[in-house]
Amino acid sequence: MRILFVASECYPLVKTGGLADVVGALPLALARLGADVRVMIPAYRGVLDKLEGVHEVAAYPDVFGGPGRLLLGSTRDGLPVMALEAGHLYDRPGGIYAGVDGRDWSDNPRRFAALGAIGAAVGRFGASGWHPEVIHAHDWQAGLVPAYFATSEDPHPRTVFTIHNIAFQGLCSASEFAGLGLPGWFFSPAGVEFYGNASFMKAGLVFADRLTTVSPTYARELRTPEYGLGMEGILNERADVLSGIVNGIDDGEWDPETDPLLPAVYSVRKLQGKARCKSDLQRRLGLSDDPEALLFAVISRLTGQKGLDLVLPHLDAIVARGGQLAVLGTGEPGLERRFSEAVGRYPGKVAAHIGYDETLAHGLQAGADAILIPSRFEPCGLTQLYGLRYGTLPIVSRTGGLADTVIDANEAALRTGCATGLQFSPVTAAGLGFALERAFALWHDRRTWKKIQAKAMAHPVGWEASAAEYKALYDDLLGRRPV
Ligand code: ADP
Ligand code: GLC
Repeated sequence: MRILFVASECYPLVKTGGLADVVGALPLALARLGADVRVMIPAYRGVLDKLEGVHEVAAYPDVFGGPGRLLLGSTRDGLPVMALEAGHLYDRPGGIYAGVDGRDWSDNPRRFAALGAIGAAVGRFGASGWHPEVIHAHDWQAGLVPAYFATSEDPHPRTVFTIHNIAFQGLCSASEFAGLGLPGWFFSPAGVEFYGNASFMKAGLVFADRLTTVSPTYARELRTPEYGLGMEGILNERADVLSGIVNGIDDGEWDPETDPLLPAVYSVRKLQGKARCKSDLQRRLGLSDDPEALLFAVISRLTGQKGLDLVLPHLDAIVARGGQLAVLGTGEPGLERRFSEAVGRYPGKVAAHIGYDETLAHGLQAGADAILIPSRFEPCGLTQLYGLRYGTLPIVSRTGGLADTVIDANEAALRTGCATGLQFSPVTAAGLGFALERAFALWHDRRTWKKIQAKAMAHPVGWEASAAEYKALYDDLLGRRPV
């Protein structure tokens, strides 16, 4: 079975969030099930340097204003990647979606239409004799792949479109849309038109054969106006082809027993290493080196979605109860500033690293006791899965994939011994406050805390089960009986 993933990010080549983790890990898990999977991403500056054995597999004379080539190589984990080189679109300083000033690149519609158009070209004509049977497009940046297929009756691969976050709708104006080589009638409510603009996300939702999202709860939430953000109508119409499959984690990268980024490794049976990670982290971040302090971590984009503003009112209470907080994140300047200011107000008790740091993310998952994820919505979320694996209890809002992956330590779960963390709702400062009170109560009942921690660490969070669900979906789409 030949599958082409089309996406804008792929770990370890380029990452701004969980999308990259999924696109980097799910194909490897599918390969273990016998599938032949390649990933297509843009060759942003620096990407080709991280690939091995790069060679050209296709060339295109005009990709929206300049030449383009597809270069096939593989990552250090052996994942085959086709990087779309088109210097006029992707070879520039700054971020992959925005410049150094933080503003989105004004030609993003063309940059990601190019990704969709070349993804579709590989679908139709192959690349050096490799012809995908299914194209799996991820989020709005790849949303035009099925739209380009819909422009003619010619045969093409079947398509799956996965929604990782419907809040990013990939909008462009009617005039920009006119330059993307799609028929004018697509700009209509039955096509990609969305309240006066064109939406690449909607293109995926309208034209793909199957739709998935990254948790069953988000698949249901998306069908309401509160979470669907205007797309709920089309999602209700297409509910028969929409499903939710939770993300897994790459346990080659995220495993406390082998993690090379940690000062000490540990396992559920030998937790001494986790204590060393905690003390190392406290010293590195300027927190008091205190094994008794309940250390909460935050590893997140600092945006409204993530609900981290709800943590700020609780800093006094966390510190008064002997707790500590360590924040790693970037995002909205207001939130960055408020967390940075808190460091001065609570010396030795609150630490904030404003920036993106993969090594510190591992250090925090290992060294903290609990990880806070008070998201207002969360399609899946990966940091709670890393928290489970590292015995760092997730304290999460009851939404999306957080609701599907963490078992709340309520009375019933405590009695049956199945709890793996804490959930709270409503998603308000008060709701989070009650969860923090429960966390401190459990911390003082160390036997129960340790039981929850052991259960969390044993909870299966790898890709096996979910990769098998995707494989079954592809089989079904291709009219094959699962083998
Ligand atoms: P989202 O994709 O919405 O940002 P996820 O929880 O799915 O949320 O994935 C976030 C990913 O990005 C995780 O791998 C997390 O460790 C990582 N991450 C987020 N912020 C940072 C940061 N500042 N430094 C390092 N890694 C980060
Ligand atoms: C998005 C979502 C996040 C999800 C990730 C990977 O960024 O915000 O919840 O885990 O995609 O699917």
